[in-house]
Amino acid sequence: MAIRIAVIGGDGIGPEVIGEALRVLEAVAKRHGVAYETTNLDYGAARYLRTGKVIDDAEVEQLRTGYDAILLGAVGHPDVKPGILEKGLLLKLRFALDQYINLRPVKLYPGVTSPLRDKTPEHINFDVIRENTEDLYCGNGGIARIGTPQEVSTQEMLATRFGVERCVRYAFEFCRRKKEVGRGKGRLTLVHKTNVLTYCGDTWFRTFNEVGQKDYPDIERNYHHVDACCMYMATRPEIYDTIVVPNMFGDIITDLGAAIAGGMGVAASGNLNPDGAASGGGPSMFEPVHGSAPDIAGQNKANPIAAILSVAMLLRETGRIKGDQAAIAAGDDVEAAVQKVCSLFTGQSMDRLDKPTQEVTRLVLEAL
Ligand code: IPM
Ligand code: MN
Repeated sequence: MAIRIAVIGGDGIGPEVIGEALRVLEAVAKRHGVAYETTNLDYGAARYLRTGKVIDDAEVEQLRTGYDAILLGAVGHPDVKPGILEKGLLLKLRFALDQYINLRPVKLYPGVTSPLRDKTPEHINFDVIRENTEDLYCGNGGIARIGTPQEVSTQEMLATRFGVERCVRYAFEFCRRKKEVGRGKGRLTLVHKTNVLTYCGDTWFRTFNEVGQKDYPDIERNYHHVDACCMYMATRPEIYDTIVVPNMFGDIITDLGAAIAGGMGVAASGNLNPDGAASGGGPSMFEPVHGSAPDIAGQNKANPIAAILSVAMLLRETGRIKGDQAAIAAGDDVEAAVQKVCSLFTGQSMDRLDKPTQEVTRLVLEAL
Protein backbone atom coordinates (compact mmCIF):
# COMPACT_ATOMS: atom_id res chain seq x y z
CA MET A 1 0.00 0.00 0.00
CA ALA A 2 1.23 3.46 -0.85
CA ILE A 3 2.86 5.52 1.89
CA ARG A 4 0.40 8.30 2.71
CA ILE A 5 2.31 11.47 3.52
CA ALA A 6 0.78 14.63 4.97
CA VAL A 7 2.88 17.62 3.92
CA ILE A 8 2.86 20.72 6.10
CA GLY A 9 5.21 23.24 4.52
CA GLY A 10 4.52 25.72 7.29
CA ASP A 11 6.18 29.11 7.52
CA GLY A 12 9.17 31.05 6.20
CA ILE A 13 11.58 28.86 4.26
CA GLY A 14 9.54 25.76 5.23
CA PRO A 15 7.49 25.49 2.02
CA GLU A 16 10.56 26.14 -0.17
CA VAL A 17 12.76 23.48 1.34
CA ILE A 18 9.90 20.98 1.52
CA GLY A 19 9.17 21.58 -2.17
CA GLU A 20 12.77 20.67 -2.95
CA ALA A 21 12.68 17.61 -0.70
CA LEU A 22 9.56 16.41 -2.54
CA ARG A 23 11.41 16.63 -5.86
CA VAL A 24 14.04 14.29 -4.45
CA LEU A 25 11.35 11.99 -3.05
CA GLU A 26 9.70 11.77 -6.46
CA ALA A 27 12.94 10.79 -8.16
CA VAL A 28 14.10 8.23 -5.62
CA ALA A 29 10.63 6.67 -5.27
CA LYS A 30 10.40 6.14 -9.01
CA ARG A 31 13.84 4.53 -9.05
CA HIS A 32 13.02 2.08 -6.23
CA GLY A 33 9.37 1.51 -7.06
CA VAL A 34 8.17 3.07 -3.80
CA ALA A 35 4.49 3.97 -3.97
CA TYR A 36 3.46 7.10 -2.08
CA GLU A 37 0.89 9.86 -2.16
CA THR A 38 1.08 13.33 -0.66
CA THR A 39 -1.56 15.71 0.68
CA ASN A 40 -0.69 19.37 1.21
CA LEU A 41 -2.03 20.96 4.38
CA ASP A 42 -1.93 24.71 4.93
CA TYR A 43 -1.44 24.73 8.71
CA GLY A 44 0.82 27.52 9.89
CA ALA A 45 1.14 31.28 10.23
CA ALA A 46 -0.64 32.30 7.03
CA ARG A 47 -3.80 30.38 7.90
CA TYR A 48 -3.62 31.52 11.52
CA LEU A 49 -3.35 35.19 10.51
CA ARG A 50 -6.26 34.75 8.09
CA THR A 51 -8.61 32.74 10.30
CA GLY A 52 -7.30 32.83 13.88
CA LYS A 53 -7.10 29.04 13.88
CA VAL A 54 -3.94 26.95 14.34
CA ILE A 55 -5.15 23.33 14.22
CA ASP A 56 -8.30 21.83 15.72
CA ASP A 57 -8.97 18.43 17.22
CA ALA A 58 -10.72 17.08 14.14
CA GLU A 59 -7.70 18.00 12.03
CA VAL A 60 -5.35 16.31 14.49
CA GLU A 61 -7.56 13.23 14.37
CA GLN A 62 -7.42 13.30 10.59
CA LEU A 63 -3.61 13.32 10.76
CA ARG A 64 -3.64 10.49 13.28
CA THR A 65 -5.82 8.18 11.27
CA GLY A 66 -5.30 9.20 7.66
CA TYR A 67 -1.52 9.13 7.19
CA ASP A 68 1.60 7.01 7.58
CA ALA A 69 3.96 9.97 7.98
CA ILE A 70 4.05 13.76 8.20
CA LEU A 71 6.65 15.94 6.52
CA LEU A 72 6.92 19.34 8.18
CA GLY A 73 8.90 22.38 7.03
CA ALA A 74 9.03 24.90 9.85
CA VAL A 75 6.72 26.89 12.08
CA GLY A 76 7.14 30.42 13.40
CA HIS A 77 6.42 33.85 11.95
CA PRO A 78 7.48 37.37 12.99
CA ASP A 79 3.83 38.56 12.96
CA VAL A 80 2.66 35.83 15.33
CA LYS A 81 3.40 36.05 19.02
CA PRO A 82 6.08 33.49 20.04
CA GLY A 83 4.52 30.30 21.38
CA ILE A 84 1.24 30.32 19.48
CA LEU A 85 2.39 28.29 16.50
CA GLU A 86 5.16 26.46 18.34
CA LYS A 87 2.86 25.23 21.07
CA GLY A 88 -0.35 25.24 19.03
CA LEU A 89 0.96 23.25 16.11
CA LEU A 90 4.38 21.65 16.57
CA LEU A 91 4.16 20.66 20.23
CA LYS A 92 0.47 19.84 19.91
CA LEU A 93 1.22 17.33 17.17
CA ARG A 94 4.19 15.83 19.00
CA PHE A 95 2.03 15.27 22.07
CA ALA A 96 -1.29 14.30 20.47
CA LEU A 97 0.33 11.82 18.10
CA ASP A 98 2.50 10.52 20.95
CA GLN A 99 5.73 11.04 19.06
CA TYR A 100 7.74 10.29 22.15
CA ILE A 101 11.15 10.07 20.51
CA ASN A 102 12.94 12.92 18.79
CA LEU A 103 15.76 11.34 16.83
CA ARG A 104 18.52 13.75 15.85
CA PRO A 105 21.64 12.36 14.20
CA VAL A 106 24.84 14.40 14.58
CA LYS A 107 26.97 13.32 11.68
CA LEU A 108 29.78 15.18 9.98
CA TYR A 109 29.72 14.17 6.34
CA PRO A 110 33.00 13.81 4.44
CA GLY A 111 34.05 17.14 2.96
CA VAL A 112 31.86 19.22 5.25
CA THR A 113 33.83 21.71 7.32
CA SER A 114 33.16 21.58 11.03
CA PRO A 115 33.89 24.64 13.18
CA LEU A 116 35.90 22.18 15.30
CA ARG A 117 39.24 22.60 13.57
CA ASP A 118 40.73 19.17 14.12
CA LYS A 119 37.64 16.99 13.87
CA THR A 120 36.83 14.72 10.94
CA PRO A 121 33.85 12.46 10.14
CA GLU A 122 35.13 9.68 12.41
CA HIS A 123 35.05 12.06 15.37
CA ILE A 124 31.56 13.46 14.88
CA ASN A 125 29.14 10.60 14.35
CA PHE A 126 26.54 10.03 17.02
CA ASP A 127 22.79 10.06 17.55
CA VAL A 128 20.81 12.03 20.08
CA ILE A 129 17.59 10.47 21.30
CA ARG A 130 15.59 13.25 22.87
CA GLU A 131 12.49 12.46 24.91
CA ASN A 132 9.72 14.39 23.17
CA THR A 133 6.55 14.49 25.28
CA GLU A 134 7.49 15.40 28.88
CA ASP A 135 9.92 17.49 30.95
CA LEU A 136 9.72 21.29 30.88
CA TYR A 137 7.68 20.98 27.71
CA CYS A 138 4.67 19.54 29.56
CA GLY A 139 3.12 23.00 29.96
CA ASN A 140 2.53 22.74 33.71
CA GLY A 141 2.97 25.90 35.72
CA GLY A 142 1.48 29.32 35.72
CA ILE A 143 1.87 33.01 36.23
CA ALA A 144 0.08 35.25 38.74
CA ARG A 145 0.04 38.90 39.84
CA ILE A 146 1.40 39.67 36.41
CA GLY A 147 3.01 43.07 36.02
CA THR A 148 3.19 43.71 39.77
CA PRO A 149 6.23 43.56 42.07
CA GLN A 150 4.72 40.33 43.43
CA GLU A 151 4.67 38.64 40.04
CA VAL A 152 5.30 34.91 40.33
CA SER A 153 5.74 32.30 37.63
CA THR A 154 6.59 28.62 37.64
CA GLN A 155 7.32 26.11 34.89
CA GLU A 156 7.44 22.48 35.92
CA MET A 157 9.83 19.75 34.91
CA LEU A 158 7.96 16.46 34.64
CA ALA A 159 9.26 12.91 34.38
CA THR A 160 7.07 9.83 34.52
CA ARG A 161 8.49 6.35 34.95
CA PHE A 162 6.45 5.26 31.93
CA GLY A 163 7.68 8.10 29.72
CA VAL A 164 11.30 7.78 30.79
CA GLU A 165 11.37 4.03 30.51
CA ARG A 166 9.95 3.83 27.00
CA CYS A 167 12.45 6.45 25.85
CA VAL A 168 15.40 4.76 27.53
CA ARG A 169 14.37 1.38 26.09
CA TYR A 170 14.15 2.85 22.62
CA ALA A 171 17.65 4.27 23.10
CA PHE A 172 19.14 0.96 24.24
CA GLU A 173 17.53 -0.84 21.30
CA PHE A 174 18.75 1.83 18.89
CA CYS A 175 22.28 1.64 20.29
CA ARG A 176 22.31 -2.17 20.09
CA ARG A 177 21.03 -2.15 16.50
CA LYS A 178 23.82 0.24 15.51
CA LYS A 179 26.43 -1.96 17.18
CA GLU A 180 25.08 -5.06 15.46
CA VAL A 181 25.42 -3.53 12.01
CA GLY A 182 28.92 -2.26 12.80
CA ARG A 183 27.89 1.41 12.98
CA GLY A 184 28.44 1.99 16.68
CA LYS A 185 30.48 1.24 19.75
CA GLY A 186 27.51 0.10 21.83
CA ARG A 187 27.84 2.97 24.28
CA LEU A 188 24.77 4.80 25.54
CA THR A 189 25.25 8.06 27.43
CA LEU A 190 22.52 9.50 29.62
CA VAL A 191 22.68 13.31 29.80
CA HIS A 192 20.95 15.09 32.70
CA LYS A 193 21.77 17.30 35.65
CA THR A 194 21.31 14.85 38.50
CA ASN A 195 23.43 16.89 40.91
CA VAL A 196 20.82 19.67 40.96
CA LEU A 197 17.62 18.18 39.54
CA THR A 198 17.57 15.50 42.18
CA TYR A 199 13.94 14.42 41.65
CA CYS A 200 13.59 14.13 37.89
CA GLY A 201 17.26 13.26 37.60
CA ASP A 202 16.79 10.39 40.00
CA THR A 203 13.92 8.91 37.98
CA TRP A 204 16.04 9.08 34.84
CA PHE A 205 19.20 7.75 36.45
CA ARG A 206 17.55 4.80 38.17
CA THR A 207 15.44 3.87 35.16
CA PHE A 208 18.47 4.06 32.87
CA ASN A 209 20.56 1.81 35.08
CA GLU A 210 17.83 -0.66 35.97
CA VAL A 211 16.74 -1.18 32.38
CA GLY A 212 20.34 -1.33 31.15
CA GLN A 213 21.51 -3.78 33.78
CA LYS A 214 18.57 -6.09 33.34
CA ASP A 215 17.96 -6.12 29.60
CA TYR A 216 20.97 -4.56 27.88
CA PRO A 217 24.13 -5.87 29.58
CA ASP A 218 25.87 -5.78 26.18
CA ILE A 219 25.54 -1.96 26.05
CA GLU A 220 28.05 0.18 27.92
CA ARG A 221 26.33 2.75 30.15
CA ASN A 222 27.77 6.20 30.57
CA TYR A 223 26.47 9.33 32.31
CA HIS A 224 27.31 13.03 31.77
CA HIS A 225 25.90 16.16 33.31
CA VAL A 226 24.50 18.39 30.56
CA ASP A 227 27.05 21.16 31.09
CA ALA A 228 29.91 18.71 30.80
CA CYS A 229 28.23 17.21 27.73
CA CYS A 230 28.37 20.60 26.01
CA MET A 231 32.06 20.84 26.77
CA TYR A 232 32.76 17.32 25.47
CA MET A 233 30.71 17.92 22.32
CA ALA A 234 33.03 20.82 21.57
CA THR A 235 36.28 19.11 22.62
CA ARG A 236 35.91 15.33 22.35
CA PRO A 237 32.72 14.52 20.38
CA GLU A 238 34.24 11.13 19.46
CA ILE A 239 33.35 9.78 22.90
CA TYR A 240 29.67 9.77 21.96
CA ASP A 241 27.85 6.97 20.18
CA THR A 242 24.23 7.35 21.31
CA ILE A 243 22.92 9.94 23.77
CA VAL A 244 19.58 9.72 25.56
CA VAL A 245 18.34 12.96 27.08
CA PRO A 246 15.20 14.65 28.39
CA ASN A 247 13.32 17.12 26.24
CA MET A 248 14.74 20.52 27.27
CA PHE A 249 18.41 19.55 27.48
CA GLY A 250 17.89 17.62 24.24
CA ASP A 251 16.63 20.75 22.53
CA ILE A 252 19.73 22.64 23.55
CA ILE A 253 22.43 20.07 22.87
CA THR A 254 21.02 19.23 19.43
CA ASP A 255 21.51 22.80 18.21
CA LEU A 256 25.10 22.47 19.39
CA GLY A 257 25.25 19.10 17.65
CA ALA A 258 24.00 20.61 14.40
CA ALA A 259 26.62 23.34 14.66
CA ILE A 260 29.57 20.98 15.11
CA ALA A 261 28.33 18.84 12.21
CA GLY A 262 28.54 21.80 9.84
CA GLY A 263 25.41 23.79 10.59
CA MET A 264 21.64 23.72 10.84
CA GLY A 265 21.51 23.37 7.06
CA VAL A 266 22.28 19.65 7.35
CA ALA A 267 20.43 18.71 10.53
CA ALA A 268 17.38 16.46 10.10
CA SER A 269 15.10 15.08 12.74
CA GLY A 270 12.30 12.62 13.27
CA ASN A 271 9.54 12.98 15.84
CA LEU A 272 8.87 9.30 16.14
CA ASN A 273 6.09 7.19 17.38
CA PRO A 274 8.24 4.07 17.01
CA ASP A 275 5.25 1.78 17.37
CA GLY A 276 3.65 3.35 14.33
CA ALA A 277 0.12 4.41 13.64
CA ALA A 278 -1.02 0.88 14.46
CA SER A 279 -0.35 1.55 18.17
CA GLY A 280 -3.17 4.07 18.25
CA GLY A 281 -0.67 6.88 18.75
CA GLY A 282 -0.12 8.33 15.37
CA PRO A 283 2.27 8.68 12.46
CA SER A 284 5.80 9.99 12.89
CA MET A 285 6.69 13.51 11.75
CA PHE A 286 9.91 14.45 10.02
CA GLU A 287 11.34 17.95 9.96
CA PRO A 288 14.57 19.84 9.48
CA VAL A 289 15.95 21.15 12.80
CA HIS A 290 16.37 24.68 11.40
CA GLY A 291 13.45 27.02 11.87
CA SER A 292 11.50 29.19 9.45
CA ALA A 293 14.37 31.69 8.91
CA PRO A 294 12.06 34.57 7.86
CA ASP A 295 15.05 36.77 7.00
CA ILE A 296 15.89 34.65 3.95
CA ALA A 297 12.42 33.32 3.09
CA GLY A 298 11.43 33.47 -0.55
CA GLN A 299 14.91 34.42 -1.74
CA ASN A 300 16.06 31.03 -3.00
CA LYS A 301 18.86 31.07 -0.44
CA ALA A 302 17.77 28.34 1.96
CA ASN A 303 19.76 25.14 2.07
CA PRO A 304 17.31 22.29 1.27
CA ILE A 305 19.64 19.55 2.52
CA ALA A 306 18.17 19.24 6.02
CA ALA A 307 14.69 18.83 4.51
CA ILE A 308 16.04 16.31 1.98
CA LEU A 309 17.67 14.34 4.80
CA SER A 310 14.36 14.44 6.65
CA VAL A 311 12.81 12.71 3.65
CA ALA A 312 15.57 10.10 3.84
CA MET A 313 14.68 9.49 7.47
CA LEU A 314 10.97 9.39 6.61
CA LEU A 315 11.60 6.69 4.01
CA ARG A 316 13.74 4.60 6.34
CA GLU A 317 11.48 4.86 9.39
CA THR A 318 8.22 4.38 7.53
CA GLY A 319 9.82 1.54 5.59
CA ARG A 320 10.84 -0.11 8.85
CA ILE A 321 7.35 0.15 10.30
CA LYS A 322 5.59 -1.02 7.15
CA GLY A 323 8.19 -3.68 6.35
CA ASP A 324 8.87 -1.95 3.03
CA GLN A 325 12.48 -2.76 2.06
CA ALA A 326 12.32 -0.61 -1.07
CA ALA A 327 11.53 2.46 1.02
CA ILE A 328 14.47 1.73 3.33
CA ALA A 329 16.82 1.36 0.35
CA ALA A 330 15.47 4.59 -1.13
CA GLY A 331 16.17 6.43 2.12
CA ASP A 332 19.74 5.10 2.17
CA ASP A 333 20.20 6.26 -1.42
CA VAL A 334 19.08 9.79 -0.60
CA GLU A 335 21.54 10.02 2.26
CA ALA A 336 24.36 8.70 0.07
CA ALA A 337 23.53 11.27 -2.62
CA VAL A 338 23.51 14.07 -0.05
CA GLN A 339 26.90 12.96 1.22
CA LYS A 340 28.36 13.27 -2.28
CA VAL A 341 26.91 16.74 -2.71
CA CYS A 342 28.10 17.94 0.69
CA SER A 343 31.69 17.40 -0.31
CA LEU A 344 31.25 20.11 -2.97
CA PHE A 345 30.88 22.67 -0.20
CA THR A 346 34.12 22.17 1.69
CA GLY A 347 35.13 25.29 3.57
CA GLN A 348 31.59 26.75 3.73
CA SER A 349 29.13 26.73 6.59
CA MET A 350 26.19 24.56 5.59
CA ASP A 351 23.95 27.33 6.95
CA ARG A 352 24.62 29.63 4.01
CA LEU A 353 25.69 28.00 0.81
CA ASP A 354 27.00 29.91 -2.17
CA LYS A 355 24.47 28.13 -4.40
CA PRO A 356 20.74 28.81 -4.74
CA THR A 357 18.24 26.38 -3.23
CA GLN A 358 17.21 24.73 -6.47
CA GLU A 359 20.77 24.29 -7.64
CA VAL A 360 21.57 22.29 -4.50
CA THR A 361 18.58 20.03 -5.21
CA ARG A 362 19.72 19.61 -8.80
CA LEU A 363 23.11 18.42 -7.53
CA VAL A 364 21.40 15.91 -5.22
CA LEU A 365 19.24 14.63 -8.08
CA GLU A 366 22.34 14.28 -10.24
CA ALA A 367 24.14 12.35 -7.49
CA LEU A 368 21.17 10.01 -7.19
C1 IPM B 1 13.04 22.21 17.98
C2 IPM B 1 12.46 23.57 18.21
C3 IPM B 1 11.17 23.44 19.01
C4 IPM B 1 11.52 22.78 20.33
C5 IPM B 1 10.41 24.76 19.20
C6 IPM B 1 10.14 25.46 17.91
C7 IPM B 1 9.14 24.54 19.97
O1 IPM B 1 13.38 24.39 18.84
O2 IPM B 1 12.37 21.39 17.32
O3 IPM B 1 14.15 21.92 18.44
O4 IPM B 1 11.88 23.48 21.28
O5 IPM B 1 11.42 21.57 20.41
MN1 MN C 1 15.32 23.46 19.11
